[in-house]
Amino acid sequence: MTLRKVNISILIVAVVIFLLVIHHNFLSLSDFLRRELSDPSPLGLQPIDFIPAAPQRLTDERNDKEISVVIAASDERLGGAIAAMNSIYQHTKSNVVFHIVTLNDTVDHLRMWLRSPPLKNMRYRILDFDPRVLEGKVQVDPQKADTFKPLTFARFYLPNLVPHAEKVIYVDDDVIVQDDIVELYNTPLKPGHAAAFSDDCDSTSSKVAVRGAGNQYNYIGFLDYKKETIRKLAMKANTCSFNPGVFVANLTEWKLQNITKQLEKWMTLNVVEELYSKTLAGSITTPPLLIVFYKLHSSIDPMWNVRHLGSSAGKRYSPQFVKAAKLLHWNGHFKPWGRTASYAEVWEKWYVPDPAGKFNLIRRHSEAYEAK
Ligand SMILES: *[C@@H]1O[C@H](CO)[C@@H](O)[C@H](O)[C@H]1NC(C)=O
Ligand SMILES: *[C@@H]1O[C@H](CO)[C@@H](O)[C@H](O)[C@H]1NC(C)=O
Ligand SMILES: *[C@@H]1O[C@H](CO)[C@@H](O)[C@H](O)[C@H]1NC(C)=O
Repeated sequence: MTLRKVNISILIVAVVIFLLVIHHNFLSLSDFLRRELSDPSPLGLQPIDFIPAAPQRLTDERNDKEISVVIAASDERLGGAIAAMNSIYQHTKSNVVFHIVTLNDTVDHLRMWLRSPPLKNMRYRILDFDPRVLEGKVQVDPQKADTFKPLTFARFYLPNLVPHAEKVIYVDDDVIVQDDIVELYNTPLKPGHAAAFSDDCDSTSSKVAVRGAGNQYNYIGFLDYKKETIRKLAMKANTCSFNPGVFVANLTEWKLQNITKQLEKWMTLNVVEELYSKTLAGSITTPPLLIVFYKLHSSIDPMWNVRHLGSSAGKRYSPQFVKAAKLLHWNGHFKPWGRTASYAEVWEKWYVPDPAGKFNLIRRHSEAYEAK
């Protein structure tokens, strides 16, 4: 009889403790979500979603270092961003959180796609980029207004996008990753450097691509050295350029040096003085970065940005080299979701079909690929 009473008391105590623990976990989880959802941002960059994996996993991993990856996802290339994130997610053992920057009318489509089975446990936030922050900083030809891609400038605003992180990775949407992204994340940045890029001349990929490329690999290919403002900077014209499609940033240093303000200053000056090279083939986001980071950036391992797969140079890579690459980048005209890119089949392994059926792969031999 007394033994039974003791048993019941023990049971009651255990139940109370159990309930307290659950209650506590719920509280901290909701605090955490609330914090994520209410990041103040001066740019109208409002996080719309924060979708953690199963709550259990979230609480388990809270002590695990979070690896922030920023990617811009524009509607007409959404399949690219999806494949890039899938390849990163499937190769990592780390606690990766994606910060997906997009325009407000893409949010619903993106959210639906991210519910696909291969991606459904991926952790991400969706951030709405307001293109009005670029007013007066980019010259938009009214005739070509639809070729203007505001999201390519999202990378200039990293501290606004990921205010709590010290270190972040930025990747373009035309890449796939073939190794654990933590290795790229661990790239050391020298004191005083706010970012690490892959240089265009000493990289493994440029040895293949550099012939016949004119001035596309040094500063004079991007900036107009006839302009006084550029000459006054005393930057050597034959300095190697770097590719801003994949980089690691130290946001503490970025904020200390006011990198965003500096980039905006050069964008605004360009509108007035046309400082970029007339034959600029690369993206218009590159020249301000080249100026601001002149002799002030660290390097990433070139195997973490094997590029030019979107140009004819990519055809010269051997299958062994492509297999050994840690990150493949289809910069250039031919995208792997289009008709004629090199090694599109390597990219396609990471593609997840669009549940809305809007984004279709274009393939040479078959009709337009239909999302299943
Ligand atoms: C999206 O943003 C633009 C301005 O940036 C605004 O005009 C439009 O109303 C917004 N659309 C929605 C659905 O919120
Ligand atoms: C980032 O920069 C700050 C300021 O220079 C420095 O104190 C910190 O150690 C750097 N962090 C990393 C991860 O490099
Ligand atoms: C960055 O901006 C702040 C405030 O506007 C200013 O106090 C600081 O001197 C600036 N730092 C640099 C390196 O320009």
